[in-house]
Amino acid sequence: MLQVENMTVRFAGLSAVSELSFRVEPGEIFTMMGPNGAGKTTAFNAITGFVRPAGGTVSYKGVSLLGRTPDQIAGMGIRRTFQNNGILREMTVLENVLTGLELAIPRAFWRTVAGLPSARRAEREAVRQARAMLARMGIAELADRTAGDLSFGQQRLVEISRALVAGAELIMLDEPAVGLSPSDRHHLGDVLRGLARSGIAVVLVEHVQDLVMAVSDRILVLNYGKCLAEGTPDAVRNNQAVLEAYLGHE
Ligand SMILES: Nc1ncnc2c1ncn2[C@@H]1O[C@H](COP(=O)(O)OP(=O)(O)OP(=O)(O)O)[C@@H](O)[C@H]1O
Ligand SMILES: [Mg+2]
Repeated sequence: MLQVENMTVRFAGLSAVSELSFRVEPGEIFTMMGPNGAGKTTAFNAITGFVRPAGGTVSYKGVSLLGRTPDQIAGMGIRRTFQNNGILREMTVLENVLTGLELAIPRAFWRTVAGLPSARRAEREAVRQARAMLARMGIAELADRTAGDLSFGQQRLVEISRALVAGAELIMLDEPAVGLSPSDRHHLGDVLRGLARSGIAVVLVEHVQDLVMAVSDRILVLNYGKCLAEGTPDAVRNNQAVLEAYLGHE
């Protein structure tokens, strides 16, 4: 589904990502882990069109993503969350999720036809879709709450709802477990497994080991932009190079 081949990303002299290759298939949870600065977010940014790789290829369902804008890539069914840029705190949960439909229903459309019965129908349909997404995440009852008042765990589920509401088939999550309590992490893990069971491909960047080990089908460990190891959670956990890289950074 997603295929990355020999992808390199450079910033000035620094190779933030070097010759990275991996594939992700539908229904799979693929995790990138690695120390701070290893290049995980940069890899996400390159795949989703926020930075341009200096080399290599990135394709989705056989179609190259290189040279496409973030909006175009999102429109192809790849959605993501951001490491620090979470929810719109002042807005309600429902409004947050509706922003995820803007690509599907352009804002200009709303402005032009505001007040027309057809626009009201379209808006009702968008609200129905957003509420259905919240129900699927198990947070339907939070729809009218102000997003900034929720717990971190709930906020994370809102972000994921927003990312998925337009029908994403591949979702990329950058450190979704940061700041979550153990029980919220556990719940997030269940949510991710549920998404994968429904056929969605999940690409995760995460440090939190208990979550990563519990949910990942495969893990790729990045270190200084390079793939240090790739394999099942058990294989990676016992990999000598990985142990050394992590100890070296403590
Ligand atoms: N826009 C940029 N301009 C210059 N250098 C950058 C830029 N973005 C990232 N870098 C550098 O690229 C390297 C990889 O950064 P990146 O943010 O991808 O790491 P990360 O693995 O996501 O780390 P963290 O775990 O801290 O989020 C770092 O050395 C970082 O300083
Ligand atoms: Mg990062």
